[in-house]
Amino acid sequence: MPARHQVTLDTATAVRPDGMNETPRVVLSARGLRRDFAGFVAVKDVDLDIHHGKIHALIGPNGAGKTTIFNLLTKFLQPTSGTIELLGTDITRTPPAKVARMGLVRSFQISAIFPHLSVLDNVRVALQRPGGLGYQFWRPVSALDQLTPRARELLAIVGLDDAAHRLAGDLSYGRKRVLEIATTLALDPKVLLLDEPMAGMGHEDVGTISGIIRSLAKDRAVLMVEHNLTVVADLCDWITVMQRGQVLAAGDYATVSKDERVRVAYMGTEHGGTEHGGTEHG
Ligand SMILES: Nc1ncnc2c1ncn2[C@@H]1O[C@H](COP(=O)(O)OP(=O)(O)OP(=O)(O)O)[C@@H](O)[C@H]1O
Ligand SMILES: [Mg+2]
Repeated sequence: MPARHQVTLDTATAVRPDGMNETPRVVLSARGLRRDFAGFVAVKDVDLDIHHGKIHALIGPNGAGKTTIFNLLTKFLQPTSGTIELLGTDITRTPPAKVARMGLVRSFQISAIFPHLSVLDNVRVALQRPGGLGYQFWRPVSALDQLTPRARELLAIVGLDDAAHRLAGDLSYGRKRVLEIATTLALDPKVLLLDEPMAGMGHEDVGTISGIIRSLAKDRAVLMVEHNLTVVADLCDWITVMQRGQVLAAGDYATVSKDERVRVAYMGTEHGGTEHGGTEHG
């Protein structure tokens, strides 16, 4: 029987600002997740637990199955076998739109920003589609006005308030990605899935996005695919390392970076050992 790799943080506790301890609760979990493509097994025997208030990284070489897992969790792909539970509800057979309405939101679902609209209007448009379902262009423009305070709040959260009246298309690449995150937040996700949120970004933008992700994770769960191991080491509470569709190792960065199998499979000699500076792009 193949080994299952269960990820738990049962012993860890988060200290709340009010001084009370809170055991991180599992908000999204998968058991025995498997997906075949015409005889090719892309994902196999994957168990995952994603915790409220934590940032969880999914890492591994190209083709390891990371994006396929995202597609399975968000129901864009149906698992060949296995189960998925979101906030205590079995969503294994739930359609993707409903899963999004339940609070599991993937960044790219809203990733298309409207370049000819202002930054503020991009967020207001996102706010007027609960669950991200369809555009309601028939609504009177005045209905958008009611959404301005919340849109302003979301822009403040991601640090784009100063750019509210600029055209979205005029923003830098990094700030466009930040705007995408703001439009994703319009759905009020309980679990946020980010597939390579730092891809193509310069050093400064990476720092900005890291800060945003850290603040978002305070009251939701974040699962992110990230190739930049410096970012993973700095930002992520828990790391699941994938290889050839299976979980190779799981733990905090110190633990997985010491794991001999991980060193060989992923962080090995090619990328300069297990130092935090090692990055892998592809
Ligand atoms: N729709 C599909 N049909 C057939 N094979 C697929 C399909 N989607 C993914 N695969 C295969 O499944 C494997 C896992 O792919 P996946 O995209 O999940 O990897 P990944 O870890 O996200 O890689 P990367 O780091 O390059 O983004 C790959 O071998 C890929 O070719
Ligand atoms: Mg991928």
